Parts: sequence; C-alpha cells; structure tokens
Amino acid sequence: MSVHSFEEELLAEIGRANDILEAYLPMPGGEQATLTEAMRYSVLAGGKRLRPILMRRAYQMFGGSGRVVEPFMAAIEMVHTSSLVHDDLPALDNDDLRRGRETTHRRYGEAFGVLAGDALLNLAYETAAGAFLTDPGCTRTGEALAILAQKSGFSGMLGGQSVDVEMEGQPLSEKQLDFIYRLKTGRLFEAALMVGAVLAGASREDVRRMEEVGEAMGLAFQIRDDILDLTGTQEVIGKPIRSDVKNSKTTWAVLYGPEAAAERADELTRTALAVLDEAGARDDFLWELIRRLASRQF
Ligand code: IPE
Ligand code: IPE
Ligand code: MG
Ligand code: MG
Ligand code: MG
Repeated sequence: MSVHSFEEELLAEIGRANDILEAYLPMPGGEQATLTEAMRYSVLAGGKRLRPILMRRAYQMFGGSGRVVEPFMAAIEMVHTSSLVHDDLPALDNDDLRRGRETTHRRYGEAFGVLAGDALLNLAYETAAGAFLTDPGCTRTGEALAILAQKSGFSGMLGGQSVDVEMEGQPLSEKQLDFIYRLKTGRLFEAALMVGAVLAGASREDVRRMEEVGEAMGLAFQIRDDILDLTGTQEVIGKPIRSDVKNSKTTWAVLYGPEAAAERADELTRTALAVLDEAGARDDFLWELIRRLASRQF
C-alpha cells in the first residue's frame, strides 16, 4: 500500500472515530457541568484513536457494513480514556501531562480525576448497550458487549493495572512483565479486534485469530511505549518522559535496553501479522497499521 494512501486513510479513520466519539459524549452544562467538562476534556484532547480504528477495520474486513459498530467504537475509546485518566492520578503514576495537555486531575482536581474516569467507564457501557436499540434481538451485540466488559475488567485491563501498581519498585521476571502487559494493554487491543469481528459475523476461528493478533500487537505496543518513555521527547509523545523511571517500574526497555526491547517488539509484530495473514479475510490498511505501530515515534 502506498505511503500516500495509507496516510490519507489513517487521517480519514481518525476523523471518523472523532466524529463518532463526539456524538456520544455528554453535552457540557447542567448542574454537573464540571463532571461533563472533565469527561469531554480528557476524551477530546486527542489521542491516536487506535482502538476504535482497529475495531472498525476488523468489522469491515469481515464484511460488516452497518452502523452497529459505532457505539462500540465510542465505548472502547471511553474505556481506554478512563484508564488513562486514572493511570495519571497521584495514587498511580502521578503524571501531569497527557495527550499534550495537563492531565485531567491537574486541571480539575483529584476528585474530578476519579469521578471523570468512573463516569467515562460507565458511559462506555451505557453507549455500547445502546447498540441493542439499533440492532434489537441481535445476539452478536450481546456477545460483543460481554467481550468489551470482560477485557476491560479484573481479568483484563484493570487487573493488569493492579499488578503493575503492586509490583512498583520490585524486580520482575519476563513472565511477570508479560503478564502485566498482556492484561493492562493487550486486552483492550484484543477487545477492539474481536468486537469488530464478532459484530460482522466472523467465524469462531477468525474471532480467535483476532484475539491472538491483539495479544501479540498489544505486547509489542506496550514495549514500544516503554521504549518511548526512555528515548522519546515530551513534545512528540505528549506525556512526560521517564515516568517509568520516576516510579521505579521494571519495564522491558529498562531490563534489556531499548534496542533489545525494540527487537522483541518487532518479533511480536511479525507474529501478529502472520496470524492476521491466516484469517479468512484481508484488509491491507489494518495490516499496514499494525506493521507501522512497531516503529511508531509517539
Ligand atoms: C497509552 O495508549 C497507554 C498504553 C496502553 C501504553 P495510547 O498510546 O494508545 O494513547 P493515546 O490514546 O494515543 O493517547
Ligand atoms: C498504562 O501503561 C496502560 C494503561 C492501561 C493506561 P503506562 O502507565 O505505561 O501508560 P502511559 O505511558 O502512562 O500512557
Ligand atoms: Mg501506568
Ligand atoms: Mg502511566
Ligand atoms: Mg508508559
């Protein structure tokens, strides 16, 4: 796929994801204006919108053409953003910058960091459940909702965050590190690809393959994030550098150095692409996006 058409398509995907998200966010105003403002502030700060994009491309790849995927796209970005708002809180990573601007708790105070994160997580399920209204009686919608909830919760993203926090300052084995990365980061990528596939009616085998793709690319994504924590610049990544060092986190990049970590991210990306190649359908843009994420600079 040519560089030009990839870049153009990516911009179009980001624009589409932003429009969909905006349509599901609460309007500012009312008695609880500070809460809705803080929710909008954290979501509309931007971000790469990777999870909704991956979801929509997986949906299309397996022949989906309706709009049922849209509330799920908004929902997964809300879950993800809620995880970032809470991840930055003083009780977790204690960071001041996110998506190129002050973190939500810095802007609105710690109570609103907690509340806006909670409200976004709740809104995610309100939004996804709304898919039943456009698609009544469709069992795929229920399955997709269950996947999103399960991959976000104690056995998914939140479980990973809990072990990440608990293990701060302690040496970790490769196995323990992989466990944390698979959950805190990988599970939402798995959810994105699986929900898209399930909503489109992909076969069981293909849904399982998409889970595997998400797991490998999620691990690669977090390793790349660790590398950027060491080698990136605040201006480009939009968040503070050396946050992991500040919090005495053991990461792949700290343990083995950025170069060895990059090699592992590349290897995991190759695995993700090989599994994607086995699927019963193909999407060149999705393939190229996953390939490029391995060497992303932000
Ligand atoms: C940041 O995710 C948190 C990690 C899982 C490493 P992204 O890098 O996707 O953040 P945004 O959405 O682009 O801000
Ligand atoms: C957090 O990992 C992943 C989440 C579930 C939010 P990090 O703590 O490394 O994410 P960043 O670097 O703050 O985005
Ligand atoms: Mg963290
Ligand atoms: Mg963090
Ligand atoms: Mg990080």
